[in-house]
Amino acid sequence: MAKTKSEFVCRNCGASYPQWGGQCLECKTWNTLEEVFKSTLSKSEILQGLPSSKVQKLSEIKSESKPRLTTGLSELDRTLGGGLVDGSVVLIGGDPGIGKSTLILQAMAAINKEHTALYVSGEESAQQVSDRAVRLGITEDVLLLNETHLEKIIKLAKQIKPKVIVIDSIQTMMTDGSSSAPGSVTQVRDCAAQLTQYAKQTNTILFLIGHVTKGGALAGPRILEHMVDCVLYFEGDAGGRYRIIRAVKNRFGAVNEISVFAMGKTGLQQVENPSAIFLSNQSKPLPGSMVMVTREATRPLMIELQALVDQSNGNPKRVCVGLDQNRLALQLAILHKHGGIATFDQDVFVNIVGGIKVNETASDLVVMLTISSSLRNKIIPKDWIAFGEVGLTGEVRPVYNAVERLAEAQKHGFKVAIIPKANTPKKPIKGIKVIPVEYLYQALQYMAENN
Ligand code: TYD
Ligand code: MG
Repeated sequence: MAKTKSEFVCRNCGASYPQWGGQCLECKTWNTLEEVFKSTLSKSEILQGLPSSKVQKLSEIKSESKPRLTTGLSELDRTLGGGLVDGSVVLIGGDPGIGKSTLILQAMAAINKEHTALYVSGEESAQQVSDRAVRLGITEDVLLLNETHLEKIIKLAKQIKPKVIVIDSIQTMMTDGSSSAPGSVTQVRDCAAQLTQYAKQTNTILFLIGHVTKGGALAGPRILEHMVDCVLYFEGDAGGRYRIIRAVKNRFGAVNEISVFAMGKTGLQQVENPSAIFLSNQSKPLPGSMVMVTREATRPLMIELQALVDQSNGNPKRVCVGLDQNRLALQLAILHKHGGIATFDQDVFVNIVGGIKVNETASDLVVMLTISSSLRNKIIPKDWIAFGEVGLTGEVRPVYNAVERLAEAQKHGFKVAIIPKANTPKKPIKGIKVIPVEYLYQALQYMAENN
């Protein structure tokens, strides 16, 4: 006999606890724990339900290269690892108003040229979706369904048999199997599980659109990320022109692959060569700004970092936008210990222009140089770039694909590159003076002597 047992799951991060508490110990948010009933089957019941399994040799399993379905947006295809795979489930997260519905509607219109696409909107009325389609100049007849009841959606899908289904958004869906409110952990999890099961059984491609909380996590449990094959996140500020889409999980391609779109009057336009769009193009160089070359998955990107260091009144603030906040504390400690630059009485703000996020540690050196530049009010010349990871002992460590990064910088007319010594290119790169540094103090010294 199945017993029902309850646990308490955090709405924000999905952590579960045997007892209720005011605060989630994992993500530290308050009032997010809610009761979830789970059915606990006995061992024999579980075994009965499982398919019989057999042991196979890896070499005996035939690898099948799955055909990819294009979304009509080559940049999105690239982020997906070359297009959509049959039966795959893609989760798209992002702030409200960033362009999730717009992007997917554009993709659906392209897919609908050859296959049937079903767009299920639980958020907007059919009229609103149609207005958007008119605005986007979409003439394709994408099938539209205004529904939030999951069982009805699946029943209809079984009749229509669409190739692609979009659920906009997963937080608005509700299933009979769960009694809690739409958007709650149980509802989101159960709906996503049923939809995923449908997609896998029928080889349908499924897009789940999800909202993101202020903290950047997907509202609803993290469990969603584990259930799906691919997770794409929108970055960039909703007020700005550019939108970045990053694959943070992909069972069929590289993670951290990004594509860039520009939001215009007629929807999202692909930016095929985004390398220099994140530079601020100031006419006059100012202290606290420097360019670095990152390499996200398969492509180099020039980005501008800005730092502001100012006398603190009381508790010094450390704020990072687009970078890892914890890493800033580490960088400031290294800067003090190995560069002789103290910031304990200063507020430190670091920002990446354009709302893009940088995850790689190659940004360490630039962060430290811009902080020093702002603190000392010294300009870093506009045609300088830097990259490199800085270790706890003050050593500058090599990064991947240095030559490719340098070539990108050369293409954009940069003249001086402060880089890790171990990354010194074998052949000189025309037009770029490479300054190899082994320790942080050497980079700071070069900066002090040459500007
Ligand atoms: P939307 O796709 O509705 O965002 P989401 O589904 O992520 O909440 O996009 C909404 C924003 O995009 C809205 O602020 C208006 C803007 N927009 C344009 O600038 N141009 C367009 O052609 C469209 C359709 C939307
Ligand atoms: Mg929307």
